[in-house]
Amino acid sequence: MRTIMLMNAKGGCGKTTLATNIATWFADEGKKVALADFDPQGSSLDWLKARDGYEGIPNIEGIDAANGPATATRGTDYLIMDAPAAIHGKEINAMLRRVQTLLIPVLPSPIDMRACSRFLEEMLKSGRVSKQQTKIAIVANRVWERTNVYRQLEEYLGHLQIPVLTHLRESQNYIRSAEKGLGLFELAPSQVWHDLEQWDPIIEWLSSSKSQP
Ligand SMILES: Nc1ncnc2c1ncn2[C@@H]1O[C@H](COP(=O)(O)OP(=O)(O)O)[C@@H](O)[C@H]1O
Ligand SMILES: [Mg+2]
Repeated sequence: MRTIMLMNAKGGCGKTTLATNIATWFADEGKKVALADFDPQGSSLDWLKARDGYEGIPNIEGIDAANGPATATRGTDYLIMDAPAAIHGKEINAMLRRVQTLLIPVLPSPIDMRACSRFLEEMLKSGRVSKQQTKIAIVANRVWERTNVYRQLEEYLGHLQIPVLTHLRESQNYIRSAEKGLGLFELAPSQVWHDLEQWDPIIEWLSSSKSQP
């Protein structure tokens, strides 16, 4: 079973958005997918509830990992984990023990970058990461291209020892698809093609050996 986690020390950076979209990508590919929500707010589980209303879209198993073990049913191909915000130090290591692949969404804002740099330092110190037992990468999220703050984020991320896969633009398509319990990949292609292009490097990385220990 492949295990993929979305984590960052700060809330609102796009963990749930990435987790739900990655889950739909693999589910639409015909894989058996489970989505474990570690966040007590339960946003990924709410998204799954909205998704229940449709026929003809692939099922995704929901796991309430904030109140129980993150155990997927047998035969699950992909377990996607939506981690809680504000975890540090030993908690990070404990969390990573179950994870082959970690994606870190980062917002281009000075406050987020400051919080994130502490988190990334802790992450690089984690034994799991330094021994490459967990492979990590960054995704810049909610980006307005050609802004100063995005240039600052690019420069900052360029100095790190962590691959930056892509940036996802600020787009209403994320909000529209989320409220329906769908993924971007399940909206009309004419509406989302520009966003989907930005997802290509994420899918490529997740499908390659580079994201696996
Ligand atoms: N690229 C994006 N464009 C527009 N809105 C976004 C984007 N990514 C996330 N959002 C919105 O930002 C808010 C926070 O994102 P969310 O995924 O819930 O963050 P987290 O799970 O890290 O707290 C949500 O309302 C979500 O719909
Ligand atoms: Mg969330």
